[in-house]
Amino acid sequence: MKRVILIGYMGAGKTTVGRALAKELGLQFYDLDWYIENRRRKKVSQIFSEMGEDNFRKIEQAMLHEVAEFEDVIISCGGGTPCFFDNIDYMNQQADVVYLKAEPDVLYKHLLMSKNERPLLKGKSADELVAFITEQLAYREQFYNKARYTLDISLMDNYEKIAVTIDKLRQMLSI
Ligand code: S3P
Repeated sequence: MKRVILIGYMGAGKTTVGRALAKELGLQFYDLDWYIENRRRKKVSQIFSEMGEDNFRKIEQAMLHEVAEFEDVIISCGGGTPCFFDNIDYMNQQADVVYLKAEPDVLYKHLLMSKNERPLLKGKSADELVAFITEQLAYREQFYNKARYTLDISLMDNYEKIAVTIDKLRQMLSI
């Protein structure tokens, strides 16, 4: 039985890599944000604005406990998922957890285009975005660093590099 959970900051490519890895291995892929949106019939951004972040985190934890029971799956989490409650310890019990690590400047480049879809980044100027990513990543790394595996994906910027990342992950996890 295989169960892999990808964690890391927003814009690290968790969904892209997770989907590609699952396809290559013939496993089911779950993105936790999409799973939440399906189960609650609301966008994550709507849950944030209507119910507040604290309630989003409770829902996120409950949904994590559902998907992390599934077998033969690749799961990508939200950037904040490992950083609340005992979520990272629970993930480590349930799965092979991989931290997709990237430097703030790489994350910034990835996030610039899509920042308005993300409630925590919405409306920030370019300067504010860099400062926010740098500061929040510095805080969150204590949780991300608890993952059993870490893969630096700072160089993963095109499809060829995604393929390299998938190969590295497969070697690392022997899958
Ligand atoms: C969040 C990351 C988002 C989503 C929510 C909060 C965070 O997921 O769960 O907007 O706290 O970092 P992605 O990392 O997939 O963007």
